Amino acid sequence: MTRCVIVTGAESGIGAACAEAFGRCGDKVAVCYFDNTTEAATTVTAVEKAGGTALAVQCDVGDETSVARAFDTIEKAWGAASVLVNSAGLNMSGVTVRDMTLQQWRRLLDTDLTGAFLTSRRFLTARDATVPASIVHISSIHAYAVRAGGADYCAAKGGLSNLVETMAIEEAAHGVRVNAVEPGMILTPMNARAETDTAYRKTLTDNIPMGRAGQPEEVATLVRWLSSEEASYITGARIAIDGGLSLMQALGA
Ligand SMILES: NC(=O)c1ccc[n+]([C@@H]2O[C@H](COP(=O)([O-])OP(=O)(O)OC[C@H]3O[C@@H](n4cnc5c(N)ncnc54)[C@H](O)[C@@H]3O)[C@@H](O)[C@H]2O)c1
Repeated sequence: MTRCVIVTGAESGIGAACAEAFGRCGDKVAVCYFDNTTEAATTVTAVEKAGGTALAVQCDVGDETSVARAFDTIEKAWGAASVLVNSAGLNMSGVTVRDMTLQQWRRLLDTDLTGAFLTSRRFLTARDATVPASIVHISSIHAYAVRAGGADYCAAKGGLSNLVETMAIEEAAHGVRVNAVEPGMILTPMNARAETDTAYRKTLTDNIPMGRAGQPEEVATLVRWLSSEEASYITGARIAIDGGLSLMQALGA
């Protein structure tokens, strides 16, 4: 059956790879983008080339009105969605708490945590209750492995873990599975320097047991599977996809 899939942050990185992966399943994919219409158009083309149908929709996930407008547009075109992939996110500021402005803190939390709440809530209230549904949030190993300079990001992703688990038990009886994937180091624009600077990349990948960064397509494969009926008994899970990086916490102990 053709599904209607909503992917936020779909104009680049992991979101774009997820959109294309759903396209390969022949799905209808709403390519939700923040502000880059050129990148959104590239994702639309990739989804269509892969065999899916695509619709580019502007959406600021941290803005309730923008989320409502985007979902209205998608529902008008295709009806209610049965899969939501929430990939929109900002990276950590690199600023320690003592120097962090409230504006920076709010900007990150609004996008990476409140955005997940707003899109999930809108998805849940609009869905067709007779169709099994799945929500996958792109979290991070930083949900539990903290890093100096990342209080904004780590707090948002840590909060996202609890949001995922709470929604999983609330929605289990209603046919909605809610899960998170937790990437380690993935080569996307969020890691722009590591994409181009191989010496810098090596300083990071030396800490990864598999000795390399991941590709967005590897995350997309997991997301597509987790959203499918093949994963029908999985809910409230948080699955690391990190080449073993999160197992290295005892390094130096
Ligand atoms: N790349 C990694 O190493 C890595 C590791 C762990 C987790 N993640 C998570 O993966 C997700 C995707 O990141 P990515 O690596 O593909 O980076 P990316 O920068 O390519 O993608 C993030 C996307 O989110 C969009 N976005 C930013 N603010 C938004 C807003 N307010 N509303 C809607 N969209 C907004 C951006 O435009 C961008 O397209 C993020 O949630 C990120 O935290 C990435």
